[in-house]
Amino acid sequence: MSEHVAATMRAVEITEAGGPEVLRVGERPVPEPGTGEVLIRVSAAGVNRPDVMQRLGLYPPPPGAPDIPGLEIAGTVVATGADAGGAPPGSAVCALVAGGGYAEYCVAPAPLCLPIPEGLSHVQAAAIPETFFTVWTNVFDRGRLASGESLLVHGGSSGIGTTAIQLAKAFGATVYVTAGSEEKCQACRDLGADAAINYRDEDFVERVSELTNERGVDVILDMVGGDYLPRNLKALAVEGRIVQIALQRGPKVEMNLLPIMLKRLTLTGSTLRPRTVAQKAMIAHSLREKVWPLLESGQVRPIIHATFPLAQASDAHRLMESSQHIGKIVLSDEGE
Ligand SMILES: NC(=O)c1ccc[n+]([C@@H]2O[C@H](COP(=O)([O-])OP(=O)(O)OC[C@H]3O[C@@H](n4cnc5c(N)ncnc54)[C@H](OP(=O)(O)O)[C@@H]3O)[C@@H](O)[C@H]2O)c1
Repeated sequence: MSEHVAATMRAVEITEAGGPEVLRVGERPVPEPGTGEVLIRVSAAGVNRPDVMQRLGLYPPPPGAPDIPGLEIAGTVVATGADAGGAPPGSAVCALVAGGGYAEYCVAPAPLCLPIPEGLSHVQAAAIPETFFTVWTNVFDRGRLASGESLLVHGGSSGIGTTAIQLAKAFGATVYVTAGSEEKCQACRDLGADAAINYRDEDFVERVSELTNERGVDVILDMVGGDYLPRNLKALAVEGRIVQIALQRGPKVEMNLLPIMLKRLTLTGSTLRPRTVAQKAMIAHSLREKVWPLLESGQVRPIIHATFPLAQASDAHRLMESSQHIGKIVLSDEGE
């Protein structure tokens, strides 16, 4: 170990399933890194909608994952387990974790630790892993978005959406988004979206048809689900792909399968958290190679809406549930 690590730490616990008030700071043993893992002194932790789902009791941690919420962190490696190459003690890293981020220390698989991009703070770096891994694997791997194609992102002002807009533009796509207010639509345009549709005032199927001269879009990144599915099928071009990443309007829908045949469509989706470390490591490898240079040049950046101290995790969740935010919310006791 390169620095003294206390036996216990402060960590945010979900005391029972419920509202934001069930998040309380408690005392926990500092976790020990196992084989292939490192222990990180956390300086900042990103807040994600799946943490809210976990707090509500609707998204339990996968087997073996800590019950402490938090899927992404930035900090300093302070200890390593056996066979944990790549991130020696003293390295400043950001990491994707399967839980445990809302704490002073957190264990992470070594292959899921990436260097803090040059020029970025720990708070900015903590806001990267969950959305960048998710967008990469869904938009580019599963959705096969290519340069010159078009992407429709539902929820363009979300943490996921602000990442998807920037990455899709950086890789040469035309990007359309939906969002729930004019302020959010403007923020998406400012990030590079070619058009933003306020879904409360406008029908996105009609607008996409107008914007694409009735061709439709090549890929849709959908976090809404429910009755959006038949409408998404209408908004897709021939050979189009829908990538489902959440179901905010519910998991069930009645639909006509015919467009899938007529337009040769692909309906796919994924969840990140339960995937194996080896699968996530492949995503980490692609990000390091293709996206880290964009982060280091400033072409792409995490959009931080607000930071809260760890002890105010419940306020961070209240803000997320109010949906007033644009981009990411981060917990850090070290300020900006
Ligand atoms: N599958 C995976 O691996 C994975 C990983 C991470 C996150 N996710 C999911 O991705 C989503 C975004 O996560 P996040 O952390 O970025 O959360 P977030 O910032 O809280 O975003 C949620 C977004 O959904 C938007 N929204 C809700 N109903 C909508 C509708 N009918 N049309 C368009 N937008 C709508 C909200 O915008 P308005 O308030 O303007 O409607 C808000 O921007 C969440 O549902 C989360 O569970 C999935």
